[in-house]
Amino acid sequence: MRLSSCHNIADLRRLAKRRLPSPVFHYIDGGADDELTLKRNTSAFDDYELLPSQLSNVSSIDTAATLFGQPVDWPVIISPTGASKLFHADGETAVARAAAKFGMIYSLSTLGTTTIEAAAAASSGPKIYQLYVLKDRGLTAEHIERCSDAGYIALCLTADTPVAGNRERDFVHGFSASPRSRLRQAVSFARYPGWLYRALVRKDLDMVNITLSKAAQTIEGSARDFIDEQMDRSLTWKDVEWIAGRWKGPLVVKGVQTVDDCRKAADAGATAVMLSNHGGRQLESAPAPIDCVAAVADALRDRLEIICDGGVRRGNHVVKALAAGANACGIGRSYLFGLAAGGQPGVEHALGILQAEFERTMALLGCNSVSKLGRSYVQRRV
Ligand code: FNR
Repeated sequence: MRLSSCHNIADLRRLAKRRLPSPVFHYIDGGADDELTLKRNTSAFDDYELLPSQLSNVSSIDTAATLFGQPVDWPVIISPTGASKLFHADGETAVARAAAKFGMIYSLSTLGTTTIEAAAAASSGPKIYQLYVLKDRGLTAEHIERCSDAGYIALCLTADTPVAGNRERDFVHGFSASPRSRLRQAVSFARYPGWLYRALVRKDLDMVNITLSKAAQTIEGSARDFIDEQMDRSLTWKDVEWIAGRWKGPLVVKGVQTVDDCRKAADAGATAVMLSNHGGRQLESAPAPIDCVAAVADALRDRLEIICDGGVRRGNHVVKALAAGANACGIGRSYLFGLAAGGQPGVEHALGILQAEFERTMALLGCNSVSKLGRSYVQRRV
């Protein structure tokens, strides 16, 4: 199977599965507990039907939008995911370059394997930085300053990870982010010598934006251990105000789902929210993001940009989210499967598939501009 024979994101997922050591594939693919939320994030899109407006001159489709004050070619952003070099040697750089080619915003995770500065330099495209606030608060202040110096256009605070979710596939398949424990799963990894070389010899898989901090030096275990030991669980909306006071640009709160929390985000100084349950990796039985869009848009669209993040595997999912009231969608696994399947060309393949599906859906829907998408084009099946 090659990239050229991948016709959709599900095909890319199959290719990624072949190319990765199984613990690493399942680390991307898996979710929390019984994976109810993981499955529901995508299947919830099936409950929405698109209502075409025929004969509407769709000879050209205007997909351009503005997000965080930045023009984008189409309203999908690269959501932050940690440790991209686990999935391909070119890691974050490959994704950032592909995103720039597609006129999209790239997000770098605090747990990334590329520095804030190197990711900024990887492409000329717009970038945002995803903050995890650790107990070492000085590190957060330092990251904010570095992002400002490196020209990031927005900050994104992830609010749904006070502790690590219970991702049982990581236990079953033996995933751990610690090179020492990886050695113990030598059987799973032996078929991937290039991968092992990077992990053990080049030590390319370090979370470089935190490894120099005092907090990180105490870490010997897995990513799960790191989150459980180092994440600041005492975080409140006051801390969002603290960040908003230090960061003068757009501020996104990621991982909220209710109107109440989105209002608190706006009151604390956020300019955008990512309606997200972390791709079903954190709170089991959290609602699917698409099901949260309409209520939040009705209450707060004049105060916040709204990004629907989770479960997007088809271009028509993006159309549905926008018609329901979102400004954009975020994608995680869709581009990670592309990265694992084939580095930067693999990410470009994934983005190309989604973008073509998005434009085709707009044409078939009879809607020639993103700015015209609204509730008249969508109904929720009862
Ligand atoms: C994530 N996600 C995530 N979110 C975040 O704020 N910081 C992070 O470091 C990560 N890391 C991460 C790793 C992997 C492997 C996955 C799959 C996801 C969540 C991510 O930003 C996004 O919310 C989800 O991926 C969206 O769901 P889909 O598109 O994967 O269904």
